[in-house]
Amino acid sequence: MATVTDFRSMDESTAEDWRLVAQSVSGDSSGMADVALDMLKRLKGSSLCMPVDPYEHSLQTATRAHKDGAEEELVVCALLHDIGDLAAPQNHAELAAAIVRPYVSDLNHGVVLLHEIFQGYHYFDKVGLDRNLRDRFRGHPAYARTAEFCAKWDQSSFDKNYQSMPLEAFEPILRRVFARPPYGGNRTPHVDYMGFRINMIPGQAA
Ligand SMILES: [Fe+2]
Ligand SMILES: [Fe+2]
Repeated sequence: MATVTDFRSMDESTAEDWRLVAQSVSGDSSGMADVALDMLKRLKGSSLCMPVDPYEHSLQTATRAHKDGAEEELVVCALLHDIGDLAAPQNHAELAAAIVRPYVSDLNHGVVLLHEIFQGYHYFDKVGLDRNLRDRFRGHPAYARTAEFCAKWDQSSFDKNYQSMPLEAFEPILRRVFARPPYGGNRTPHVDYMGFRINMIPGQAA
């Protein structure tokens, strides 16, 4: 059984307490896959007045990505790009992007984050918005990839007659992606708040 720390406030916690906490957090990546699967399943039946519900839309987007030979990680991003639809309907991309960020490349994180604006290229003109809002991101490394993601897979995945692969078919790759060490490779753990990028590297206190 895991040791439980017993500090009453952070001020009285010790370095050893935080070593134990970090150990338990880093050993919990399979839990992330379960959370993502639960969030996906909750999208079932919430029509939002669209031709297909966000659950079917997610499966359809991921199926198209998979059939076009997209890398495994990008297929997972396609599957999860709208999991924030119910919890954060006004900024759903931010929520999904935050969830996948530690486990995917910066480029694919960019796709998930930017897709909400880039989808607008395909319909904003019908709701009185500028369909070229995405152009503010010209020069961003994820620009071309996000434009392609939306054109080929996201904006075209509202077809009631499309045969999507079942969620179970994607579960192994979803679990593989969340089983990765967070911020693996040579990526620096970080957060972005209000335009401030804060690196979070243990042992390198400012
Ligand atoms: Fe979306
Ligand atoms: Fe979508």
